[in-house]
Amino acid sequence: MIPSKAALWSRFQKFYTEYPSLGLAMDISRVDFPDSFLATMERPMQRAYIAMAELEKGGIANPDEKRMVGHYWLRDPDRAPTRTIADEIARTLADIKTFAAAVHAGEARGAGGAFKNVLVIGIGGSALGPQFVAKALGQPATDKLKPFFFDNTDPDGMDKVLAELSGQLGQTLAVVISKSGGTAETRNGMLEAKAAYEQAGLDFAKHAVAVTGFGSALDKYAVAGGWIRRFPMWDWVGGRTSELSAVGLLPAALQGLDIQAMLDGAKATDEVTRVPDTKRNPAAQLALMWYFLGEGRGAKDMVVLPYKDRLELFSKYLQQLLMESLGKELDLDGKIVNAGISVYGNKGSTDQHAYVQQLREGVLNFFVVFIEVLKDRDGASIEVEPGATTGDFLSGFYLGTRTALHDNGRQSITLTVRDAGASSIGALIALFERAVGLYASLININAYHQPGVEAGKKAAASVLALQAKVVERLAAEPAQSFTADALAAAIGQPDSGETIYKILCHLAANGRKAKVVGGSGTGSTFQAD
Ligand code: PA5
Repeated sequence: MIPSKAALWSRFQKFYTEYPSLGLAMDISRVDFPDSFLATMERPMQRAYIAMAELEKGGIANPDEKRMVGHYWLRDPDRAPTRTIADEIARTLADIKTFAAAVHAGEARGAGGAFKNVLVIGIGGSALGPQFVAKALGQPATDKLKPFFFDNTDPDGMDKVLAELSGQLGQTLAVVISKSGGTAETRNGMLEAKAAYEQAGLDFAKHAVAVTGFGSALDKYAVAGGWIRRFPMWDWVGGRTSELSAVGLLPAALQGLDIQAMLDGAKATDEVTRVPDTKRNPAAQLALMWYFLGEGRGAKDMVVLPYKDRLELFSKYLQQLLMESLGKELDLDGKIVNAGISVYGNKGSTDQHAYVQQLREGVLNFFVVFIEVLKDRDGASIEVEPGATTGDFLSGFYLGTRTALHDNGRQSITLTVRDAGASSIGALIALFERAVGLYASLININAYHQPGVEAGKKAAASVLALQAKVVERLAAEPAQSFTADALAAAIGQPDSGETIYKILCHLAANGRKAKVVGGSGTGSTFQAD
């Protein structure tokens, strides 16, 4: 039965909370938890606050990797467990600001003059935050540097970016970001960029900056090459929570965005969400709603619908933050739990013309997080109908969809922000970071490691090692043709026929090292090319 409007208004008044210091409000009235739920969860929630307080004090919150988890210190260095860490954070922030100012003033410059573009090369936690923030806060007409990204090892993807930068590489600063300094995609992107600079007659090192862990392969490479600058990435910051470290702050500062306002928004949010009072803690409420809606086992997907074009990449950013943090096979006691919350979404109202049809009427395997931005734009709006602006329509579509979904038993949370400025972006990042940490405590998992990502990296490395053997064998017998199975047997890996077939097809399609000489499909024969 659909509750009456009066009943919903009364529930809204009960479960809608404003946080004026953050310019943020949270509405959990459209989640149909029973009255007893918050009380039932108070004890586990108190345990989660204690775990979070330990983490903030510098406890080993990532037991597998024996690491501290310190992203909260980035916006409030005085909370860091040692003076050395606090000083490093403050010094790095000052260095970022000074360097960005020198770039903007044309003091640090490329062979073609003052830098006007920044090419960020990174992946995962070393790209998604910078991309989200660049889109959310960028003002293409006035940005100090125009941002570009290599976030993959796709040659064609890189070519597209390089085509846009054609003739401008001498005024393009490359920022290579990798915490580990050994991620293949980023290394490849850096080498492709270097080749492009060299082809343009430029010295890459004189246009390159690194953000990486001290002593990493990238760090050593940058030192040996005499790159312009290196900025640190610390082992106590995880990739997906690194937006407010040099990883995110350097590209943002170069673009000319207000990084201090982002940090301030995050710090203010930490202050609110640190308080162990669930009724006045939006991160705790968010974590509890995830727990309720997904029955603590991620039974429902989270659809993120910001009604603001600038926030379109927020769902992608959150997809990593939640799925890499919470998607774990084992809990902290070693029990198989296969935890996680699936996240997807783009933006409203655009998505209303795509998958919202299924949300309204189809399989009920999700809940929605709406993000409402109160401020429409800088300046006045025309009326597109008597008394109504485009922004009024956007707001109307959000409210209409929220109601239409709830009328059909589809639950939602709404986060309202005053505007989509730098402080709000910092607040949103900090809010979700803490919600993830609290939810991880509720379900007893380690949110700060990523064994699945590491497994993928290892598997890819073994495919490339196999490719090297395949190519070597073909080259050793250039007149001989092989099926994938024959080649697998010849190199002593008889159970690798499928992978070898895929490797050969890829090489042949690119006219490199192998060609198809007969047969078809999986029975094709290949020869050295
Ligand atoms: O969040 C994470 O830890 C990962 O997504 C990493 O950011 C990603 O794998 C890139 O790693 P790195 O920064 O070491 O190149």
